[in-house]
Amino acid sequence: MKLWGGRFTKDTNELVERFNASITFDRRFWKEDIEGSIAHVTMLAKQGIITGDDRIAIMDALIQIRTDIENGTLTISDDSEDIHSFMEETLISRIGDVGKKLHTGRSRNDQVALDMKLYVRNEITELDSLLKHLLLTIHTIMKNNTETFMPGFTHLQKAQPVTLAHHLGAYFEMFKRDRMRLSDTYKRMNLCPLGSGALAGTTYPLDREYSAKLLSFDGATANSMDSVSDRDYLVELLSNMSLIMMHLSRFSEEIILWNSNEYQFVDIDDAYSTGSSIMPQKKNPDIAELVRGKTGRVYGALMSMLTTLKGLPLAYNKDMQEDKELTFDAIDTAKGCISLFDGMLATIRFNRQRMEDSARRGFTNATDAADYLVNHGVPFRDAHGIIGKLVLYCVDKNIALDDMSIEEFKAVSPVFEDDIYEAISMKTCVEKRNTKGAPGRDAIKQIIDENEKYINSDC
Ligand code: ARG
Repeated sequence: MKLWGGRFTKDTNELVERFNASITFDRRFWKEDIEGSIAHVTMLAKQGIITGDDRIAIMDALIQIRTDIENGTLTISDDSEDIHSFMEETLISRIGDVGKKLHTGRSRNDQVALDMKLYVRNEITELDSLLKHLLLTIHTIMKNNTETFMPGFTHLQKAQPVTLAHHLGAYFEMFKRDRMRLSDTYKRMNLCPLGSGALAGTTYPLDREYSAKLLSFDGATANSMDSVSDRDYLVELLSNMSLIMMHLSRFSEEIILWNSNEYQFVDIDDAYSTGSSIMPQKKNPDIAELVRGKTGRVYGALMSMLTTLKGLPLAYNKDMQEDKELTFDAIDTAKGCISLFDGMLATIRFNRQRMEDSARRGFTNATDAADYLVNHGVPFRDAHGIIGKLVLYCVDKNIALDDMSIEEFKAVSPVFEDDIYEAISMKTCVEKRNTKGAPGRDAIKQIIDENEKYINSDC
């Protein structure tokens, strides 16, 4: 049965019917469709647009449909055009003419706008709790590794020593911002389009604020044409998810590097690694690689959505049906990647000795050696030159600055005394850096305390 057969004299071409239909993917928000219909019918009765008896008959049938789908006695068939048609057709087939009153003062245009918002709202909440869990995993590693020294890099060259807590703290900030963005998007989108009709509202005395309240929105949308054609919140969500994926991808890249034979900073747990069918020695970081790979897919969804919306005249256009598959896929991808990455990170082993040795071998204390000279009255530019010479000397002898004898130090500058060893030790290099946000013990402790409060707060 079609909802719009009245003005047609011929059947639709079969290919057109398939091409036009969205039931194969919008069935995903069947629960939201029922939830919206229950709110609508409640409002219609409150306004005296339908009788209380009609409301009860429709609501009972909708609740029964929900139960039947849940327990498998009713299957959503692909014969309907979309989930909205399926629900209305099923309702009418069960309770007859009274079911035809459900669509009073409503169009599929405001209905789909509502369903998608209801669906996305739940997904934002889920994404957020997955991110919160990931932050907890990072926080735990940070607390246990405030003295795990490692090289910090710029240009992928060893630069200055940091700690694992500090390095992971950078990702804590990224995922924290991701949660803020999701919450901003939620707040902005949380207005209810129901009752906007096809585009120009309706002549029935609907109470749109009441429907909005029933569905836990902050209020009703202010312009009926915008209500049925607004997909900004999907662009925002896709952009938020692109950033989440970008952060996961950067982190994955580091884990792939750290897991390589050259670095050996980490061992990925067997449960999160895969083998090679030909090379028995291999333990591959496939999960991290897949997360990195799937990032492109989410970026693609964002580009696709923006392109679909570009140039659409007001108000609803069928192009908008294209918003669903790509958004669903991007949500599934982002959610899957966050939780897999979280599991991989929680079980990873950090090779502390290897990290510290690596920091020691890369002249990461060269800046501190120069600072030592500056603190003893040598102008910074001269100090830079002196340490540069020492580095060349050490490279030639394949030793670290700390391995030089005091005589070797003094041969380049008489300013050096025995306390140079203490001044350039890994511990000193890190611990002297106590500006806010730096890796020093006091500085990182302050941040970890703040993070702890954040993790334990309601947000
Ligand atoms: N399946 C449609 C969509 O996803 C629902 C709205 C249909 N509205 C219409 N006027 N054809 O956008």
